[in-house]
Amino acid sequence: TPGVRPLIAGNWKMHGLRADALPLAREVAGGAAGLAAELLVCPPFTLVAAVAEALAGTAVAVGGQDCHAAARGAHTGDVAAPMLRDAGATYVILGHSERRQAYGEGGAGLRAKVEAAIAAGLTPILCVGESESQRLAGEAEAVVSAQLAEALPEGFAAAGGVVAYEPVWAIGTGRTPTEADIAAIHGAMRAQLVRDFPAGGPQGGGTTRLLYGGSVKPGNAAAILALPDVDGALVGGASLVAADFLAIARAA
Ligand code: G3P
Repeated sequence: TPGVRPLIAGNWKMHGLRADALPLAREVAGGAAGLAAELLVCPPFTLVAAVAEALAGTAVAVGGQDCHAAARGAHTGDVAAPMLRDAGATYVILGHSERRQAYGEGGAGLRAKVEAAIAAGLTPILCVGESESQRLAGEAEAVVSAQLAEALPEGFAAAGGVVAYEPVWAIGTGRTPTEADIAAIHGAMRAQLVRDFPAGGPQGGGTTRLLYGGSVKPGNAAAILALPDVDGALVGGASLVAADFLAIARAA
């Protein structure tokens, strides 16, 4: 999208101990200077503070992988958005399909998390995407549209919120939609964002960053990132190998 800086985000999922994660973060930072794309790594909660410290003063930002909708309270095992911010995060992934599947996330509860992230000064990355059966039934666009409609709060675009399209069947499988299919979904998402957030410039949905995620690798990144309305990537497996993650970043 013209005038929009691409974002290459690494979702480390439930991977990383200090011994391997801190060198990985440093290696990513070592290759990050001067790139056209903004770089982000999202480690598990236990590593957010340590990775943020290791990356302080570098061109790589840090994010969480989820947050609670409340700012504090009796929620054993949960982490609040202000805690992530306090630990050095500036982004948070929300509504990842693995959390939708495992914990039934979605709907108003997910929108409340997006609102909590924004209120805490974090940039939310809202994940949407259809299952394989929904894709085969021709429902992909409708599913994505409904997921956006239920989870996007007022003020999402103005806060710089990011959307990631991750077809469930493309995650960790080595399979990706065709370029035409990615472009079609991203075009539909753009139209919906412009409709919902009609302000011009950085306040509006016309410049909301739309990432693609699902088996992004160095070999397919350039073609995917060149598609219209693809403003970056959310990378899983390949973000655990610094050379691969940086190769994807250079393709943006
Ligand atoms: O959030 C990123 C992710 O779900 C994609 O994973 O391993 O297919 O790149 P992967």
